Amino acid sequence: MKSSLVTIAGHSREKIEYLLEMAKEFEAHPNRRLLEGKVVATLFFEPSTRTRLSFETAANRLGARVIGFADPKVTSGTKGETLKDTIMMVSNYADVIVMRHYLEGAAQYASEVAPVPIVNAGDGANQHPSQTMLDLYSIYKTQGTLDNLNIYMVGDLKYGRTVHSLLMAMRHFNPTFHFIAPDELAMPQHYKDYCAEHNIKYVEHKDFDADVISNADILYMTRVQRERFSDLIEYERVKDSYLLKEHMLCKAKSNMKILHPLPRVNEIEYSIDDTPYAYYFQQAGNGLFARQALICDCLGITLDDVKNDKTIID
Ligand code: CP
Repeated sequence: MKSSLVTIAGHSREKIEYLLEMAKEFEAHPNRRLLEGKVVATLFFEPSTRTRLSFETAANRLGARVIGFADPKVTSGTKGETLKDTIMMVSNYADVIVMRHYLEGAAQYASEVAPVPIVNAGDGANQHPSQTMLDLYSIYKTQGTLDNLNIYMVGDLKYGRTVHSLLMAMRHFNPTFHFIAPDELAMPQHYKDYCAEHNIKYVEHKDFDADVISNADILYMTRVQRERFSDLIEYERVKDSYLLKEHMLCKAKSNMKILHPLPRVNEIEYSIDDTPYAYYFQQAGNGLFARQALICDCLGITLDDVKNDKTIID
């Protein structure tokens, strides 16, 4: 059955595990003709490097054609065309629409008006469910489990949509979250309420040092989201709040992994890239396989279809 992906909140544990298994199939064999004859549209109303390119690579490696735009300034939106009209038009051309938009709720709205599935590639500070699937895949690959992990989220927890989506998805796996952020960028109260409602343990910290992170399984660093600030003076004040330095890893667990949705600005010292803790570039690489799974799922292609696929190109 075809379906949109607007938020990860509605996905059960079984559905998440099913998608991770599909991603694993694609990691083993990314090149196939499963989507031959399909057209995938990527509509990016906000800048992106990884999300757009990995979705487009995912579609291309599965034999689909890709249309779309990376810059809304070249579209008829500049002449006043509404989001609804744009979505209705593109639905005439594509089988699935991957959309990033600066407005929270834009993906939900698009999914309500579109006759084809919508994949939310990030809506404002709200949700980024496809990032969450690659984050979960990365966590599972590095830790061997999603259960009972200590996950430390650092930086911009107010505007960082990736931490919001990850928090919701992890509710099935009994995590303990540690939130490390300046007051101005603290995890919003409604996500803390969400934790309370779903019996998710969390601790809030102001300090960010070797002792605080010594118990982490996953250290999830985030960029301060400059584009969400209405007051750039406030951005300047908080932008360098938490920089992970190599010496701070001296007490880290041996299998601890550092994730970051990227782009990185000034959150992780470059020398850390060469340590075994750094996993952010592999994490971005996992986005290809997770997004192949998501496109297929939205188009009604099942895990059995992928397992029985005879179109693999090695
Ligand atoms: N992680 C992420 O969303 O990166 P991009 O903004 O480059 O797509």
